[in-house]
Amino acid sequence: MIAALRRPQGMKSFSSHSLVQGFSGAIGNTPLIYLKTISEKTGFKIFGKAEFQNPGGSVKDRAALGLVRDAEERGLIRPGGTVVEGTAGNTGIGLAHVCRARGYKCVIYMPDTQSQEKIDLLRMLGADVRPVPAVPFENPRNYNHQAREFAESINNAIWTNQFDNIANAKAHYLSTGPEIWEQSQGQMDGFICSTGTGGTLAGVGRYLQEKSGGKVQVWLADPPGSVLTSYITSGGTLVERTGSSITEGIGQGRVTDNLASIVNDLSGAFTVPDSKSIAMLYELLDTEGLYLGASSALNVVAAVELARRMGPGRSKVVTILCDGAYRYQSRLFSKKWLASKGLSQSLPDHLRKYAVLD
Ligand SMILES: Cc1ncc(COP(=O)(O)O)c(C=O)c1O
Repeated sequence: MIAALRRPQGMKSFSSHSLVQGFSGAIGNTPLIYLKTISEKTGFKIFGKAEFQNPGGSVKDRAALGLVRDAEERGLIRPGGTVVEGTAGNTGIGLAHVCRARGYKCVIYMPDTQSQEKIDLLRMLGADVRPVPAVPFENPRNYNHQAREFAESINNAIWTNQFDNIANAKAHYLSTGPEIWEQSQGQMDGFICSTGTGGTLAGVGRYLQEKSGGKVQVWLADPPGSVLTSYITSGGTLVERTGSSITEGIGQGRVTDNLASIVNDLSGAFTVPDSKSIAMLYELLDTEGLYLGASSALNVVAAVELARRMGPGRSKVVTILCDGAYRYQSRLFSKKWLASKGLSQSLPDHLRKYAVLD
């Protein structure tokens, strides 16, 4: 029986990972994937950091651990304490996991417009989920403000404040950035990704700029409806949001403190339309076998575009594969949903077969 499982001589084994300590130890050290068919098709060398392989399923596991560790190191939380955050997405999932693994209670405030699936998942992970009316940031009842106030009202609690707590960017400066530099052996020309809090772009971007002595260009990719492209390309004017996007977890109406730590040192920014992101999402599945969420697909479109913009001799670009499609599949692979977003025609004929849901 076992003999049948023995590896024939010369056959390669799967790569092995080192022994790690618990959930926290399993965060990070994700592979850097060379996107072979997309690279061959475009003539550039495009690499994706496989953040969907983190144990909580997304790039935000790193931020969650960084925020909690920072509070521990600064003595802001003691064993048995409570971690509070306002989030509707991956950060909440990361925090819920990290809290279970480190013995904290986790309280998540979110707008009551979020899907039951998201609420159920966080509850299954042991979080105390508090849906509150969806009101703008300026309103004191906004979910972020409620999270802060609740944390202030109880003992031994922290509000992790993912948008403006730069422990978020620091987590990427200390882990994701060095991993990418090492995995690419410093042989890269550009780094680009979209931003929600800005933690990933700021932390990774700053590390790569420093390590390469400014050789690696760092760019921001934006979904429609976000103000950041216009802010960066106009040299600092915040304009009204126009439009919206199918992508989740990215796009911003303001410069967060995490983003502020790099925004003036970016080489540029541009917006990627949803039509291109959805086509890339299906293409990544078809040609690379990667089942990814829409922010990852947007990032790959942007990486190809950045290589094109940088011109000859600068073709190696790294981006982030933020999470898998699993959390969004009922929409992304539904014919009805694609039609409702006006995206059915964005898919080339040979990729339509993947839209298997009605
Ligand atoms: C799916 C997804 N992609 C990208 C991001 C952006 O990451 P960051 O907050 O580090 O800018 C997020 C953030 O929540 C996300 O959930």
